[in-house]
Amino acid sequence: MKIAVLISGRGSNLQAILKAENEKKLGNAEVFLIISSNPNAAGLEFAKNYNKYAVVLDPKDYANKTEYDKKLKSIMLENDIELIVLAGFMKVLSHSFVDYFKNKIINIHPSLLPAFPGLNIHERVLEYGVKYSGCTVHFVNADVDGGPIIAQRVVEVLDGDSPDSLAARILIKEHILLPEVIKKISENKIIVNQRRVKVN
Ligand code: GRF
Repeated sequence: MKIAVLISGRGSNLQAILKAENEKKLGNAEVFLIISSNPNAAGLEFAKNYNKYAVVLDPKDYANKTEYDKKLKSIMLENDIELIVLAGFMKVLSHSFVDYFKNKIINIHPSLLPAFPGLNIHERVLEYGVKYSGCTVHFVNADVDGGPIIAQRVVEVLDGDSPDSLAARILIKEHILLPEVIKKISENKIIVNQRRVKVN
């Protein structure tokens, strides 16, 4: 199963996926292509280190979102990409793009969705005072962070936590969960029934 990983920054989840692939822990998935919306993304280094093909698609080079997503779609189709993995990709994809690739795009989000979608998650988690947070891998649909949930991991919020300390503990779980989900998808072990996703 050919996958594309889309990033915009640090790329630690990309690194975790590449490491899992190297260790033969990614099932039938092969990281075929990496796309960064940011030419200066630190994560592009990992593409180099692992000898992977990477493409920079900078929104600045496109007149609008429609043009950008058109280009993205054509790259996916030209390369026969079967799964698109958003790993810290900071662009919201158009409705037509996500509809076209229905149940073929997954995203990792550092909260227990549907709680705390969007940005500044850990700040809001601490402000609200919830006792548990975590991470979610979900299919991407037209609602931001609102698609069917595939898997989640829970992390306890500690009294002394800062947004950074909480983010760091959640990130450790992200790096395990995302490759695991990719593996399951590549082995056809995921069944989607409306919003309910069964992982075998
Ligand atoms: C992660 O926390 C992920 O959950 C969120 O963006 C962050 C990306 O980090 N969507 P990295 O670029 O993978 O290090």
